Amino acid sequence: SPFFHFKNGQLHAEHVSVDALAKEHGTPLFVYSQAALAAALTAYQDGFKGRHVSIHYAVKANSNLSILRFFAQHGCGFDIVSAGELERALVAGAAPETIVFSGVGKTRQEMQLALQKRIGCFNIESEAELEVLNSVAQGLNVRAPISLRVNPDVDAQTHPYISTGLKSNKFGIAHERALTVFKHAAALPHIEVKGIDCHIGSQITTEAPYLDALDRLLDLVEAVEACGIALSHIDCGGGLGIQYQNEKPPVASDLWAKMFARADARGYGQRHFMIEPGRSLVGNAGICLTEVLYLKPGEEKHFCIVDAAMNDLPRPAMYQAYHTITGVQETATHNPDTAPLYDVVGPVCESGDWLGRDRHLHVQQGDLLAVYSAGAYSMSMASNYNTRPRAAEILVDGTNARVIRQRDSLQQMLQAEQ
Ligand code: LLP
Repeated sequence: SPFFHFKNGQLHAEHVSVDALAKEHGTPLFVYSQAALAAALTAYQDGFKGRHVSIHYAVKANSNLSILRFFAQHGCGFDIVSAGELERALVAGAAPETIVFSGVGKTRQEMQLALQKRIGCFNIESEAELEVLNSVAQGLNVRAPISLRVNPDVDAQTHPYISTGLKSNKFGIAHERALTVFKHAAALPHIEVKGIDCHIGSQITTEAPYLDALDRLLDLVEAVEACGIALSHIDCGGGLGIQYQNEKPPVASDLWAKMFARADARGYGQRHFMIEPGRSLVGNAGICLTEVLYLKPGEEKHFCIVDAAMNDLPRPAMYQAYHTITGVQETATHNPDTAPLYDVVGPVCESGDWLGRDRHLHVQQGDLLAVYSAGAYSMSMASNYNTRPRAAEILVDGTNARVIRQRDSLQQMLQAEQ
């Protein structure tokens, strides 16, 4: 990518040598490119000229405050799923009315807090949740702005753990129930119906599921409005995939040109659309640097044991996900045919703790590797498993690099137990 590239044989993030960053800050180390964040955002915004669309960045993808601040300053709202993410968004400078609250299990306390902060919308996922929100809003003597998340029952054709739009998933209100629930919601005294939403899954690499879901959603908009319930927004969720390996996901602006063509044809093209992208805004804006601790040749497999692990980069262990791995020295991936084949694994005491399998690498103990596409669902899913400190994070902007999160200290990890 133009943001992570080799110059004089050395990997750079924009104009900064990542080798120097690793030497200064240690490893494992997450390095993000601000220009890459900006480019990913522009890919969406380019498709929205002449349209009314608001982008609500899904905080869960990467919840670092500096990343959130970047998106807030560039006109984004936020999609949150907890009181913790609400706090992060507000601290990062989000206007409360630009925040939407998703998730199947919002607690009364979370609802209360979000109402007090006057967020823009609750994305309701069940009939039971709607009743509870109505009663919490009553207690505060306010009306809660809501959207109903409907389950369009389309197959996003992605990994089963990150597919959410099928009937068999726990998410959303069944399409067949939606109209009844909308009518009920509109009659509740402390609920204000604002919109409709869906989210069919994540790492979606084809257009068809989006277009199918939009059709299903617009069918409902038509039916709901025919009952005299006006909807002021249509939220299409997130889910657009990125390239980890050979995937060819649609470019955001191309996908949305098709989405709007469909919406135009049905007379909805000038409505207020909302989207909740996460991965496609941050995924390829980050890498994780890790040091080769040991090489361990074996009869069946050679292992390259590195200092990053499943607690830092959980996606391979959880979803058998592929992340590209190269050396920080370009020579590590030269002449792959002559290179030994390694499983790149972490120090955690589990066989599932691998970052890459069967990778051709010319490496030696002490070398640095870079794990790509580590901007989304990596640090935000990191844990202290094996009492390992969570890594530090760096944000690069041109020639400038700044620490946006310090590495956990040993003392910090034990603090809450003392
Ligand atoms: N909106 C809702 C309601 C969601 O549940 C999600 C993600 C998003 C938006 C953002 O989706 P994105 O644009 O990032 O695909 N940990 C998994 C991904 C889990 C996605 C959960 N929901 C992974 O690493 O692949």
